[in-house]
Amino acid sequence: MSKDKVVLAYSGGLDTSVAIGWIGEQTGAEVIACAVDVGQGGEDLDVIQQRALDCGAVDSFVADAKDEFAEEYCMPALKANAKYMGTYPLVSALSRPLISKHLVQVAKRCGADTVAHGCTGKGNDQVRFEVSITSMAPEMHCIAPVRDLALTRDVAIDYANRHDLPIETTKHNPFSIDQNVWGRAIETGYLEDIWNEPTKDVYTYTDDPTYPPLPDEVIIEFKEGIPVKIDGVAVTPLQAIQELNRRAGAQGVGRIDVVEDRLVGIKSREVYEAPGAVTLLNAHRELENTCIEREQARFKKIIDTKWTDLVYDGQWFSPLKGSLDAYIEDTQRYVSGEVRMILHGGRATVNGRRSETSLYDFNLATYDAGDCYDQSHAKGFIEIVGLSTKLAAARDVRFGNAVTFGDQDKSAKLDKKTS
Ligand code: ARG
Repeated sequence: MSKDKVVLAYSGGLDTSVAIGWIGEQTGAEVIACAVDVGQGGEDLDVIQQRALDCGAVDSFVADAKDEFAEEYCMPALKANAKYMGTYPLVSALSRPLISKHLVQVAKRCGADTVAHGCTGKGNDQVRFEVSITSMAPEMHCIAPVRDLALTRDVAIDYANRHDLPIETTKHNPFSIDQNVWGRAIETGYLEDIWNEPTKDVYTYTDDPTYPPLPDEVIIEFKEGIPVKIDGVAVTPLQAIQELNRRAGAQGVGRIDVVEDRLVGIKSREVYEAPGAVTLLNAHRELENTCIEREQARFKKIIDTKWTDLVYDGQWFSPLKGSLDAYIEDTQRYVSGEVRMILHGGRATVNGRRSETSLYDFNLATYDAGDCYDQSHAKGFIEIVGLSTKLAAARDVRFGNAVTFGDQDKSAKLDKKTS
């Protein structure tokens, strides 16, 4: 009888390297490794692919998903102005569904009925992997060796040493890090005391914004919500993010330090750096301000927040997220044009915008003579807008509940001079 097969999300690190043999021992299954390149950089993927085999995997796959990640995951997040709790640009939350998609593809191709990942039982990522996997393949099983098969760090080190696995066991990174082209998430260790200031070694995508180089002016051109040119040079979404990671990173743009509400109920201290993402999000939002009609924009804020929360919560493949995508996509039809920004000292600040599809009308907005806005219309408009509140106020007066103006001594001093 052929053995069961498990496809493991493989990073090349200690935990998932040990997990290959560990899953085999604990479950009797054959393990197939799958590493997905979402622009995390670091070690060469050929080396990682070979290491999986050296650690006992029967097959080892590597998927180059950088462009797919940028185009199909980062760009929708950009269109949704996605910042969880108003700050976190969903770095890890975006990569999990894509990695899951590749794991499921490999599982189907190899006839595996189980997918494994290296997450603990305390975070959001386990939820994102498993909900994504079963949303695409409801028949698929999921296991997490760290959570389900007692693969603690000490066990992993001991196992690697006993089996002489080709993986470093002495160099222990003090932080838990997840990174991709959209940004970098750093947690645990010294950062768990939320009063501790992040040390310099926490950051790799950004330089210290305290001593920035000279200001860097950049012009980003968007077409229907997507960056298509930087300083006049055509770019793919991946290139746009990479280029801005480099330039905004040099200015220390996109450092975030936040106590975050995890889906599992825990508050956790997170440090992020996302220079390219934060720059693009600032630029895109300002272009939306210029091009999207007021009511559509106000409603979009609600949609954006819901979209972001769903993605954070692991619901990338949910029906509701799909419906919200349709709304967001529709709003991007006229989000085209250029945004000029200054990158400097930790900030990416918009200082100009121009667009053929803008709703900004100089002749309406200007206070100069010759405008085409008829101010006499404003008077009647205000009468109507204020009417219902005025009626309610008049009723309050009739019933003795009129607005009181408080204690004169406590309110602002009125200065009166009489001639
Ligand atoms: N808290 C963030 C999130 O849930 C980041 C998680 C990053 N994972 C890690 N192993 N450092 O999206």
